[in-house]
Amino acid sequence: MACVRALLVCTLANRAAALVVCGLNVPHAKPSAASRALGNWPKSFPYSDADLKPMMAGNDGLFYLVPKFVQHAGDECRDSLTRFYEAALPAQDGDVLDLCSSWTSHYPLGWKGRRVAILGLNPLELIANPSKTEWAVQDLNQKPTLPYADASFDVVTNSLSVDCLTKPLEVFAEMARVLKPGGLACMAFTNRCFPTKVVPIWNRPFTEAHHVQIVGNYFKFSSDAWAELVRGRIARRLGRPARPDGGRDGEEG
Ligand SMILES: C[S@@+](CC[C@H](N)C(=O)[O-])C[C@H]1O[C@@H](n2cnc3c(N)ncnc32)[C@H](O)[C@@H]1O
Repeated sequence: MACVRALLVCTLANRAAALVVCGLNVPHAKPSAASRALGNWPKSFPYSDADLKPMMAGNDGLFYLVPKFVQHAGDECRDSLTRFYEAALPAQDGDVLDLCSSWTSHYPLGWKGRRVAILGLNPLELIANPSKTEWAVQDLNQKPTLPYADASFDVVTNSLSVDCLTKPLEVFAEMARVLKPGGLACMAFTNRCFPTKVVPIWNRPFTEAHHVQIVGNYFKFSSDAWAELVRGRIARRLGRPARPDGGRDGEEG
């Protein structure tokens, strides 16, 4: 099986010196103490079905029926994420997939891919996304199989949404399948969430180190194709503490 690369990106942290992750030079990133979470692998996938069943499980299509057109992270955080994507996305003629997408993929303004497929739940939001060349509505918690051929993409991104995947192993295995050899998957997450829609383990405890561990486990146990698992912090602190309860639904943005 061809090797692909995995990258976990935590988007709320301190400004720092340059870090090379997965061969990318990301000037505003640094590893942190939470990186240790990626060393101690359990023997097998450590989560049960109950661990992955949100309080408001199912009906994701209904939950996202009304377009929100909101931002799910603060200005600085989004700016850092965009600067990260500047380093991660192919400079030209790239084929990119954005999962759990909306009206924004946080890609740099003016960046154009040859193929930019976006997949999410709200058609009006997807249509409004300026980066896309194609879009698809699909509930990954109902149907985790991606509607794309093997080895189609150079980069797969998922911004601020990995916490709501209830079939993560299936989706991550699919990401490995649709990536070209040497391709890169970037999972970016913050310290905000829809508390009723995230998988319960995300809240137990609600810490960056635990989130790194969870997403690391998704990569580790989904496919042998993931060759390299790297974690980087990329943003400046926003000056607000992590919210253990994540706030109420709709408080994101
Ligand atoms: C917190 S928003 C993040 C949106 C966007 N990625 C961003 O960074 O602004 C969560 C997104 O995930 C998508 N989503 C949530 N559950 C999903 C599911 N089961 N299948 C596919 N997409 C889903 C929604 O359409 C929504 O746009």
